[in-house]
Amino acid sequence: MNGIAQLDLVDRDYFTDHSILLDPYEYFEALREKGPVYRLPGRDIFMVTGFAESLEVLANTVDFSSVICVGGPAQQMPFTPEGDNLTPQIEAHRDSFAGGQSLVARDDKAHLNSRALLSRLFVPSRMKANEAYMTGLADRLVKGVLDRGSCELITDIAVPFATLVIADLLGVPADDRDHFMAVIAAGAPPGALDGDDSEESMHPLVVMAGYFVNYIIDRKQNPRADVLTELATASYPDGTLPDVAELVRLSTFVFGAGQDTTAKLLGNAMRFLIEVPGMQAQLRADPKQLPAFLEEVLRLEGSTKMTSRLARKTTTVGGVEIPIGTKVMVALAAANRDPRRWEDPKAFMLNRPRIKENLAFGRGAHVCIGNPLARVETRIVFEKLFEHTSHIGYDETAHGKPGSLKLDYEPSFIIRGLEKMQLALTPR
Ligand code: HEM
Repeated sequence: MNGIAQLDLVDRDYFTDHSILLDPYEYFEALREKGPVYRLPGRDIFMVTGFAESLEVLANTVDFSSVICVGGPAQQMPFTPEGDNLTPQIEAHRDSFAGGQSLVARDDKAHLNSRALLSRLFVPSRMKANEAYMTGLADRLVKGVLDRGSCELITDIAVPFATLVIADLLGVPADDRDHFMAVIAAGAPPGALDGDDSEESMHPLVVMAGYFVNYIIDRKQNPRADVLTELATASYPDGTLPDVAELVRLSTFVFGAGQDTTAKLLGNAMRFLIEVPGMQAQLRADPKQLPAFLEEVLRLEGSTKMTSRLARKTTTVGGVEIPIGTKVMVALAAANRDPRRWEDPKAFMLNRPRIKENLAFGRGAHVCIGNPLARVETRIVFEKLFEHTSHIGYDETAHGKPGSLKLDYEPSFIIRGLEKMQLALTPR
């Protein structure tokens, strides 16, 4: 327990306390011991750390709204709840919630309609073309660091890879991609503990929105055979057309959603590759096991720790009453280690039964639309690293010796991932 008393731990503020970042799991465990659905003392927030209870929340789109998803449960409510259904108030104040108009924060029909617009991006033919691009890109990025015999995984490979893959998926013209990368690299992750989330981490998205406005207007006027034209001419399921602002919001949101999440998952996975005894040799001998490996990484150390919902009606979760107007934090990272669902939950186990049921990508109406892409992306980077190196280890001058490793995690209440990871690479 790190010498921290149990009481002390649950009393810490998850949303601001840097000491929880290094190991949020013991904090979540302490919460779960209080109950899988636990109301933070003196606050209007319930923490859900149980697997079954998390599923219950994610499946219940009738009683819960996603409107607080981007800003998180600690944000101020822009209205005083009235009556027995907050839906009208939420819709009237949606613009006052951080990111309230983004896909992930929308509810009901508005959510279904927006999500349907993205379906064209994730059709098998598009994914196949994107996979070919990923393979070439990963090859270039890995070869680019081989001569040095070392790299900083996050900056040298993971971030440019994640950025360029989404740029390709969305059909961003090649000439603009470098600029997108620079803008993203300068931004803070979602849910940053320091500074206000809205300004710093939204900034790259604001810059990108400027580009997407131009792309979409251009493709509406001059349609051609490209992905941006597909997006610009996409219609809602009832045949009506979205306005330009909606299309811009959607494309910039997709850009943001698949950035830090994917980049950080690569770092998290690398930790297990290096630290689980025998894992690197096993996967190098049989790379077909990579998807199984990555699935267990997603369970143990997915890059999204939590999501949140607002109770728009009084309801129950795991038999606990959730009063109207209270917020629920679904600790996905905790659900994925709930001992009532996972045998020996802290152990890394390749090919765990029903491992794909992990909640790293959420579940239900808002389940991550990019999850097949993220899975392929990480697999391809590891395949290329295996192809061009015979061994990967920590650069001990940066991180110290095994047993006393120094690794810094991103200060974000949403994202779980390393800030930097210096690797020593042995080229083939
Ligand atoms: C390891 C990588 C990733 C992780 C861990 C992750 C995680 C998540 C989670 C947990 C949600 C659900 C949030 C909720 O229910 O409130 C989500 C939603 C979403 N993700 Fe991902 N994601 C990843 C990669 C991506 C990628 C690569 C893309 C796009 C190319 C993407 C696009 C989206 C979108 C658009 C949504 C909103 C879906 C909706 O609300 O209908 N994600 N993601």
